[in-house]
Amino acid sequence: MTMRTPDSAAGDSFDLGSVEAAVAVAIRAPSIYNTQPWWWDLRSDGLDLRADRSRQLAVVDPDGHSLLISCGASLALAKYGFQAAGWRAAIARLPDPADPDLVARLRPLDRAQPTRADLDRVAAAQRRQSDRRPYKPEPVPEKVIDHLRDSPPGPTSTSSLRWPSPTLIT
Ligand SMILES: Cc1cc2nc3c(=O)[nH]c(=O)nc-3n(C[C@H](O)[C@H](O)[C@H](O)COP(=O)(O)O)c2cc1C
Repeated sequence: MTMRTPDSAAGDSFDLGSVEAAVAVAIRAPSIYNTQPWWWDLRSDGLDLRADRSRQLAVVDPDGHSLLISCGASLALAKYGFQAAGWRAAIARLPDPADPDLVARLRPLDRAQPTRADLDRVAAAQRRQSDRRPYKPEPVPEKVIDHLRDSPPGPTSTSSLRWPSPTLIT
């Protein structure tokens, strides 16, 4: 992850500490082959997320699809990071058709008390990691499948899954 020097001083509307907190969460995102193919640019009114094409994998990701998913993961975490730091934030995706590597603009809007979910998500982002252990040969237990089916959409950290044993921890 690279954070560029701002091209202008940060405005009064938000504090640098909140921005740093948001980026610190954003860089915990998973990424294709751990390439971390993003730039987070500090702007006077927030953060811009740019695709770092120098990190795109020519053989396994020729069209940049996985690069974009990786950027999206980082974007989602940055938003939660802002929210956990007490800022409601707005995302504009691909805001400039003439500049497709500008993946998104993230702008803090106003102060807002973080929700329990915001804090949980940020805590989950900070402890998450890929699990590279091999899969077991036996089928996934019904109880686990039910849990996954019933889980709310989007990232959640209020429940975690452990398999094979113990099966579920909520
Ligand atoms: C779009 C995308 C594709 C990925 N593809 C694979 C994959 O094919 N095999 C794999 O083992 N991990 C894959 N990963 C996980 C990354 O390798 C992992 O996030 C990265 O190495 C960083 O490790 P961490 O998740 O523990 O922080 C993928 C992640 C993303 C975002």
